Amino acid sequence: MRISVFGMGYVGVVSAACLARDGHEVAGVDPQQSKVDLVNAGRTPIVEKYVGELIEEAVEKGRLHATADAASAVAQTNMSLVCVGTPSRRNGSLDTDAVERVCTEIGAAIKTKDAPHLVVIRSTILPGTMQALVIPALEAASGLAEGTQLRIANNPEFLRESTAVYDYDNPPKTVVGARDPHTAARVLALYDDLPGPKIATSVEVAEMIKYADNAWHAVKVTFGNEIGNIAKSVGVDGWDVMDIFCQDEKLNISPYYLKPGFAFGGSCLPKDLRALTYKGRELDLDLPLLSSLMPANRIQIDRAFEAITAQGRRKVAFLGISFKSGTDDLRESPQVALVEQLLGKGYDLRIYDQNVHLARLTGSNRNYIVNVIPHISDILLDDLEAVLAHGDLVVIGNPAPEFRAVPEKLRADQTLYDLARIPGAAEALGERYDGVNW
Ligand SMILES: NC(=O)c1ccc[n+]([C@@H]2O[C@H](COP(=O)([O-])OP(=O)(O)OC[C@H]3O[C@@H](n4cnc5c(N)ncnc54)[C@H](O)[C@@H]3O)[C@@H](O)[C@H]2O)c1
Repeated sequence: MRISVFGMGYVGVVSAACLARDGHEVAGVDPQQSKVDLVNAGRTPIVEKYVGELIEEAVEKGRLHATADAASAVAQTNMSLVCVGTPSRRNGSLDTDAVERVCTEIGAAIKTKDAPHLVVIRSTILPGTMQALVIPALEAASGLAEGTQLRIANNPEFLRESTAVYDYDNPPKTVVGARDPHTAARVLALYDDLPGPKIATSVEVAEMIKYADNAWHAVKVTFGNEIGNIAKSVGVDGWDVMDIFCQDEKLNISPYYLKPGFAFGGSCLPKDLRALTYKGRELDLDLPLLSSLMPANRIQIDRAFEAITAQGRRKVAFLGISFKSGTDDLRESPQVALVEQLLGKGYDLRIYDQNVHLARLTGSNRNYIVNVIPHISDILLDDLEAVLAHGDLVVIGNPAPEFRAVPEKLRADQTLYDLARIPGAAEALGERYDGVNW
């Protein structure tokens, strides 16, 4: 393919060098003449392993050249990759000025050519930026509507500086967000020979994934650091701890616990987090990440409470009050905390949970629920249908299998608030459905 790469910085240079190596004809574009001159002399404008050799070879073979002239680069190519910087502004917001400028330049150049052009954003941009800024800038400057001669895609970049060429060749995944499958396939075709999952998705998901990735990486680093800080203070080697931690690929290094949803609870997580952060205070350690977890969990309960009260429906059927399905342990269940909050505000609740039968609850579990909701015996029923019939609003608290059929059982006047993401419920109920964070 003939590809123009806008921005001869870390991402642009590595992409341009690797695409040229893989047989594409590449024009690198940058307003900084010194970078243009370096590339045209077969030299790299950035310090990065293997890039110098790749550029030298690509320029020698006539597969790569650089220019400061956006219009000529667009005219010679049928796809543009935008790799310009998106730095932080002083207030932390994302500076998208360079992306907007480059889209205006590319759009103006597309206007003067009579052939389709595909513009692929590789710069990291927040969800909604394609729709609010990239597409309008391209459309205004080109005079074309997106989806005609002008196509757009988002293709986030996952390389790390210092191992960038290796990462380009071994990506953790390749993600392309596009408005139609043909455009997604054209961009994915650039990476045909690369390993790893290839994922076509919506433009907005593609925009957001990079932020989820980087936030996660920052959480991992800080988590390891805070565990290490505690470990050192109590005379334990944190590397020994985290070596073992990382060998657990079921619960620790795995997709488990990572789907958006409701708060955590149960008899262990809250108790153990409190003990650990209390120990940190005793040791005079600042542990901002670990200390933020209980408050963040409380916010998730408040979020559900506010969404429920916003519906203005006082009669509520609450299905599933244990913190996960398949247990009758109610201790520190966030569903119970939510029920307690609703009862406190005078909501008329009926509760169903297949696993929770008051007569069978014993010990600290029974004491807990009877203390938190003293008249639980009046509102906890064994009859799912009767509980369902009571609610103008139905809340599903956990993903017990018997709740899967609930959406089809609802009356036309009932709404569903879902903390468990019941499959197909959103599609079945449309406007009558709301989920905690989907
Ligand atoms: N550096 C990384 O490791 C990395 C990894 C993944 C994603 N990203 C993202 O990729 C984007 C680029 O990052 P970078 O580190 O390569 O940036 P960079 O600052 O190294 O390079 C940006 C380049 O764009 C050029 N530029 C500015 N305006 C231009 C225009 N109108 N036309 C052509 N070129 C123009 C600049 O002169 C500069 O050379 C950012 O959004 C960044 O968040 C970076």
